[in-house]
Amino acid sequence: AADRLSRIRNTLGAIPDFPKAGILFRDIFPVLRDAEVFKDLNEEIFEASKSYPDVECVVGLESRGFLFGPILAQKLSVPFVPIRKKGKLPGELISQTYELEYGTDCCEIQKGSVSKGQKVLIIDDLLATGGTMKAACDLLEKLEADIVLCLCIIELTGLKGKSKIDKPFKSLITFDD
Ligand code: PRP
Ligand code: MG
Repeated sequence: AADRLSRIRNTLGAIPDFPKAGILFRDIFPVLRDAEVFKDLNEEIFEASKSYPDVECVVGLESRGFLFGPILAQKLSVPFVPIRKKGKLPGELISQTYELEYGTDCCEIQKGSVSKGQKVLIIDDLLATGGTMKAACDLLEKLEADIVLCLCIIELTGLKGKSKIDKPFKSLITFDD
């Protein structure tokens, strides 16, 4: 798996000064452009999830969490549930605001999409400040879900986002810049 992970790592894009000066943007999409590497990544995600048995639901975070969540859910034969940015989901919702570098954002989940006590795995492409993942955890706590794992493909360790997450957390690839 180590060689698989290093191939994935080497396939990620790194774009300086995007979306603004001083930010090195880690781009997941070059991985999806290479069918073999994308397959390897989905296999690594599946392997990581298997250390946490009895996952009953995969929750993906809009939008890049949607690239991997449904594939994992299908491999595990469990439901996929989205957390979306404000105003996108219909029906009865629970909302959670969270801090951005400038201002706040808000994400939502449909009431009844996850049941009380259900064992949930949350997936996203990247952990930076951890604000997005923390908001997802807060939403799922409100639904009284049992969060068994917060899984990210990439973790930007310099931003210490992991310290915001008080649930089991795992990342596949880390960068300290
Ligand atoms: C990016 C990334 C994570 C989040 C991480 O999403 O996909 O979801 O930021 O940042 P954080 O740890 O500081 O919260 P973004 O909100 O840019 O939107 P996208 O997934 O729709 O591209
Ligand atoms: Mg995102």
